Amino acid sequence: MRRAVCPGSFDPIHNGHLEVIARAAGLFDEVIVAISTNYSKNYLFTLEQRLDMAQETLAALRGIVIEPMGQGLLASYCRQRGASAIVKGLRSSSDFDYEVPMATMNRQLSGVETIFLAGEARYLHLSSTMIKEVASLGGDVSDYVPRAVQRRLAELKKD
Ligand code: PNS
Repeated sequence: MRRAVCPGSFDPIHNGHLEVIARAAGLFDEVIVAISTNYSKNYLFTLEQRLDMAQETLAALRGIVIEPMGQGLLASYCRQRGASAIVKGLRSSSDFDYEVPMATMNRQLSGVETIFLAGEARYLHLSSTMIKEVASLGGDVSDYVPRAVQRRLAELKKD
């Protein structure tokens, strides 16, 4: 069984993430979408909400498991889960500069390789941060996020 981990905050999950996860699922027998918790970060959505949005969106795809990653090292999590690779999307040279040191550290800590997939051109500008800002200011993000996320973002406006 070739297992990979797609880690992230997914606050919220967007179409750029989904495209990378779907491509990873084509390369591995199982892909774990591991949703992180970092207490120094201010999330818009709770861990349960982030899990629910990913679950609802990815339920139809085979070979994908969604679970919380906890607060520990990604390298330890990959080892515990028997994953041989971390899969991440790359949008830009700044992603590359940020990600390569982490990939090296993760490989040195646990032997797990990081595989980078070039992001799909139409989603290269996307980030969860941008989506949250555009949605909060009344912009239409329906081209960029799945329905489950659109619904949650709309619910926030009602509160
Ligand atoms: O979506 P994000 O917030 O960019 O995801 C970041 C994530 C979860 C991949 C990163 O914060 C992470 O790897 N956290 C686990 C802690 C860890 O292993 N730190 C050392 C990295 S070399």
